Amino acid sequence: MLDGNMVCSCLVMAPEAQGKKIETIEGMAKGDQLHALQKKFIEFAALQCGICTPGFLMASRALLAKNKNPTETEVRYWLAGNLCRCTGYDKIVRAVMEVAADMRGAAR
Ligand code: FES
Repeated sequence: MLDGNMVCSCLVMAPEAQGKKIETIEGMAKGDQLHALQKKFIEFAALQCGICTPGFLMASRALLAKNKNPTETEVRYWLAGNLCRCTGYDKIVRAVMEVAADMRGAAR
């Protein structure tokens, strides 16, 4: 996240980031306290090798900051730029939907 906007980190040159607020997966947990998305990814086995996981978590957090009640289609479209070769996406989408429901206090 660069100044609150999602960016493809591999496409941002260092001078473009100078003076901007940078948020990465390293700042998502608060000490030993995992973010709700991190907990749910673990609970739902929404990760395997973990290579894609930081991107999915950061993108999911950005989605839920904008939309606390996303449809499954909206979650899938939002995360479409993130690729996972292990999970098949369903577990990731279910984890995000579950956190969204928890944030709304929705009954399931
Ligand atoms: S968990 Fe391996 S690429 Fe997503």
